[in-house]
Amino acid sequence: MPPLDVSLLCYDLPSRPRPEMGRILVTGATGYIGGRLVPELLARGYRVRVMVRAPAEEYCNRWPGAEIVVADALKADGLREALQGIHAAYYLIHSLLLGQEEFESKEIQAAGNFRTAAEKEGVAHIIYLGALGDIRVPLSPHLRSRMHVAEELGRGRVATTVLRAAIIIGSGSASYEIIEHLVRNLPVFFVPRWAQTRCQPIAVRDVIKYLVGVLETPEACGRSFDIGGRDVLTYRQMLGIFADLLGKKRLFLPCPFCHIGLFSYLASLVTPVPAAITRCLMEGITSEVVCQSQDIRHLLPFQPLGYREALVRALSREEQDRVHTRWSDAYPPAHELAMKLHEIPKPVRYTSSYTLPTEKDAPSLFRSVCRIGGKEGWFYSNWLWRLRGMIDRILLGVGSSRGRRSSSSLRAGDVIDFWRVEDLRPDAMLLLRAEMKLPGMAWLQFNVDRKEGGQGPPTHNSALGTANQLSVNAYYQPSGLLGKLYWYACLPFHSLIFHNLIKQIEKRA
Ligand SMILES: NC(=O)c1ccc[n+]([C@@H]2O[C@H](COP(=O)([O-])OP(=O)(O)OC[C@H]3O[C@@H](n4cnc5c(N)ncnc54)[C@H](OP(=O)(O)O)[C@@H]3O)[C@@H](O)[C@H]2O)c1
Repeated sequence: MPPLDVSLLCYDLPSRPRPEMGRILVTGATGYIGGRLVPELLARGYRVRVMVRAPAEEYCNRWPGAEIVVADALKADGLREALQGIHAAYYLIHSLLLGQEEFESKEIQAAGNFRTAAEKEGVAHIIYLGALGDIRVPLSPHLRSRMHVAEELGRGRVATTVLRAAIIIGSGSASYEIIEHLVRNLPVFFVPRWAQTRCQPIAVRDVIKYLVGVLETPEACGRSFDIGGRDVLTYRQMLGIFADLLGKKRLFLPCPFCHIGLFSYLASLVTPVPAAITRCLMEGITSEVVCQSQDIRHLLPFQPLGYREALVRALSREEQDRVHTRWSDAYPPAHELAMKLHEIPKPVRYTSSYTLPTEKDAPSLFRSVCRIGGKEGWFYSNWLWRLRGMIDRILLGVGSSRGRRSSSSLRAGDVIDFWRVEDLRPDAMLLLRAEMKLPGMAWLQFNVDRKEGGQGPPTHNSALGTANQLSVNAYYQPSGLLGKLYWYACLPFHSLIFHNLIKQIEKRA
């Protein structure tokens, strides 16, 4: 094997790659953890099969060399095919966004289907990343569900290794972004009793190292390990350390009132993370999540990062615009396997188009299109977009503050505020699907049409009638009368906003 690239997370892992063991399946690869694990396995020479629910062409570029298979763990049918010929399977499936009512039962169902299919296909090893917590005390539904999934997977004949982690700190992790935005946005913290609960956060790079390490360490097979970083801290201390790191003076005042539902809702209003997730995560705050055993440190003897060090690395990744995966990569429930624009029976009920001829070249125009949203805003009437996002957040939708993974690059599946990239053709087309609460389905498509000779830098082309063309098309498929009323209510704003939006995109190109 060639020497490992030091930019990889596992370059200094004490275990040795064992690609000869056979094919590895990674589920949840479009998610936060799975998306970081796949490149590490590929770099270590493993033959990797990636299981996704909704295929996208872009995955072949994202994971060159990996085999892509389509299956849904909630449907037993495709699972056997996904697990055929697999030696070890990572189970990183998570349905947090389904909301409390559904996620517990769905998670057990998915794990049960997976275990049965793995047994039938003779899989030797399942590796699962679950959560820390003491099963003997009352746990939040989220933590309890993680325990039940571990039990369900381990119930069968396939040796199951369970890694149990508390909150994961890394660029793009939901917990990290909640803490970061709270500290950046709030000058005063009213601290309830549960903020004194202890937690052992772990850096995302250490989680990935343990996930790879247990695959490569035969003694780890079939066992359960607690994994954590160097520090055990209260949530209050974690906020304080982050504030200190950012050089922000924050006031912490005791608060007798401690309704977690209300705190999590308020947290969702000042952070990019929607209420469905803040609630699940914050309900777990009342349970102490600290490693009870250090066994993993003997099997994989490397020094995990401390909390402050993990924060510094995450902040620096953000500053360098090198966030590889983000919590928002996983689809929210209302849009799970959402219908794509090309799947809508034609013609789409309502459309409106705005076009601008331009002398600018196609790559510059497209680069400019790809910078919309996130920190840069929507170039025109930003406050209107923000207002729409705020209304959505109040209605428990995803809102517009999710931002984006990277401010300069986009790939299929990325989130841009309350949109998601459905399709993208470099220098030609960007198609966004709306994920805000709507009485219908909506898309926004930007097209850069190259006219003959309109390729290069601004020249005399336009004088020859050969300018390029930048356009934006809004598509809307209403649901019921409310949907139709919504379209007509928005129409006057469309003309103003979209017209000026493409002008601004062109100006910045
Ligand atoms: N992130 C953390 O802070 C953290 C902390 C402790 C433990 N963990 C554990 O780490 C594991 C992975 O978490 P994560 O944060 O990476 O999750 P995530 O970002 O929410 O990703 C979840 C993944 O599960 C897939 N999925 C959901 N339902 C599925 C189904 N029915 N069939 C097939 N795939 C399905 C999603 O695919 P789609 O793209 O198709 O939706 C997505 O790839 C979880 O077990 C979690 O408990 C995470």
